[in-house]
Amino acid sequence: MNVERLISSRAKRIDASGIRRVFELGARLKDPNNLSIGQPDFPVPALVKDAAVRAIQEDRNGYTMTGGILELRARIASELRADLGWDVTGPLSGGGEGAGMLVTSGTSGGLMLAFMSLLEAGDEVIVPDPYFVAYPHMATMCGATAVKCDTYPDFKLTAARVEAVMTERTKVVLVCSPGNPTGVVMTREEQRELLSLCRARGVVLISDEIYDLFCFDESRTDRDAAGNFRCPSAAREPDAWDSVLVVRGFGKTYGVTGWRMGYVAGPRVLVDQIAKFQQYSYVCAPSMAQWGCVAALDQDMSGVIADYQARRDLVVSRLREVTEVALPGGAFYAFPRVPERLGISAGQFVERCIEKNTLVIPGSAFSTRDTHIRLSFATTRTQLERGMDVIVDLMRG
Ligand SMILES: Cc1ncc(COP(=O)(O)O)c(C=O)c1O
Repeated sequence: MNVERLISSRAKRIDASGIRRVFELGARLKDPNNLSIGQPDFPVPALVKDAAVRAIQEDRNGYTMTGGILELRARIASELRADLGWDVTGPLSGGGEGAGMLVTSGTSGGLMLAFMSLLEAGDEVIVPDPYFVAYPHMATMCGATAVKCDTYPDFKLTAARVEAVMTERTKVVLVCSPGNPTGVVMTREEQRELLSLCRARGVVLISDEIYDLFCFDESRTDRDAAGNFRCPSAAREPDAWDSVLVVRGFGKTYGVTGWRMGYVAGPRVLVDQIAKFQQYSYVCAPSMAQWGCVAALDQDMSGVIADYQARRDLVVSRLREVTEVALPGGAFYAFPRVPERLGISAGQFVERCIEKNTLVIPGSAFSTRDTHIRLSFATTRTQLERGMDVIVDLMRG
């Protein structure tokens, strides 16, 4: 049978990720300085692993409720109350009033189902450019269009930049702070203005906060409802739950990306729809991982964050010897410019890095431009130092 003929136009519009190509090239290298990895390198806390193992051994392996096990729901609800001042304790499908929350299969699961719940064919979602690789493809999978909002050179998704690309088809604005691939953190004022614009235009603001705990000292300018310093979030503005869908994850924070754990919180009318889609697609987040994440929420990760901040300092000070780089206030990435005087694209620069056994990702994997590279400092100190030597050397030309 000619199955090719049956493939949907949606599927044909999607190209394999540029990141995967770098991984394939990298697989041929022996012990490369790998600065291309988008997941933490610290060991998963033992208590977290134990909790998941215990759940398996105690036969808690069946389907869970669509919205997540009660223990995890209660734990996330108290986090959200302390952080955002939101009350998400009401039942799902409880009539659409107030805020709601749903445990999802990864942050990706939450984003995908949110897009499915909001976007019709022809609708537009505004995403920052550069963007996390999956955003435009998720829009395509829904038959919608991702409108890429240019945020160079400071990588802030400001209200002014967003307003310039809004149309009557815009239904969603997607902000990601700290950002991937840049690590850049928006200020409180910038988040507030973006939310005001979305409210004025009747557009939902999705806030991808997967890196919320990877927030370095100078970015901790917002106070949560419990008085702790945090990265700014539009979700902390008064009554933001009525127009902001917060998407958070456990994978990066606790080193469990393969567990596929995240959650969404926001207007209950929207969360109820997401729950409906989850019921008929992912069904629920993985059961043993939910138990592991109950334990994860009790872990103090501040030592890890301080270590990442020290690595960020190293990376930025090395890069600033040779090029411009926006300060990553969080996450574990930097997105420096390939110096113009080299006269080459980022793709060509990455090839030169590979020749020197060093892996980074070209900006074109995340952007309509190919002028920058993403490097990740979620790697061993030795690999990081060796990789930075190669990059700085090549940038010096
Ligand atoms: C900004 C951003 N959002 C979402 C995701 C997807 O995360 P998850 O593994 O929880 O689906 C990633 C993963 O790299 C990311 O960087």
